[in-house]
Amino acid sequence: MTGDLFGHAQRETIAEGAVLLRGRALPHDQALLDAIAGIEAISPFRHMTTPGGYRMSVAMTGCGTASWVSDRSGYRYACRDPETRQAWPAMPAVFRTLAGTAAAEAGFAAFDPDACLVNRYDPGTKLSLHQDKDERDLSQPVVSVSLGLPAVFQFGGPRRADRPRRVPLAHGDVVVWGGPARLAYHGVLVLKDGTHPLTGARRFNLTFRKAL
Ligand code: SIN
Ligand code: FE2
Repeated sequence: MTGDLFGHAQRETIAEGAVLLRGRALPHDQALLDAIAGIEAISPFRHMTTPGGYRMSVAMTGCGTASWVSDRSGYRYACRDPETRQAWPAMPAVFRTLAGTAAAEAGFAAFDPDACLVNRYDPGTKLSLHQDKDERDLSQPVVSVSLGLPAVFQFGGPRRADRPRRVPLAHGDVVVWGGPARLAYHGVLVLKDGTHPLTGARRFNLTFRKAL
């Protein structure tokens, strides 16, 4: 689980362009969670509203130059937190380094994210199938880090009708998708109840992107 001959995390292909690095974030788990607490103290988690007027069950915050936001007028990247009206917290070094090295291990060199969305899932919450397509440069991958309770990640193809694979994600797993998989539909099934020693009854997910 800790790595192969070359010191890389175990690499599993989910689809062409999509790689799962199992346990890749484990050496940094506490530092990542401490950094989430620091972000949350500046920009609290909130339930955003979809353009259709629904309250998202996943609670979100973010860090970096810009972060993804949703409200009645649509989805976009914003350089200020609409709740605090201040800049988002800076991206912690441990976030940026992990995202860059994990992307490189998955075959995407020189990934330097400017945006990180932080998702918090309580038991019973889910994230419906969607594409990440609000970023300007789609040649850059998405890097996703899972912490806390396990979840089932759905990973499909470029059309909503493409039947998604179900990929179990555990604490410390990192998924990188780009190239032919960049616009794949993905989502998270309803989170099961449970307790994790580091996060309690919660799952956190970090998604890194080059947004601007
Ligand atoms: C996302 O698609 O923004 C999050 C995916 C996840 O929580 O694993
Ligand atoms: Fe997404």
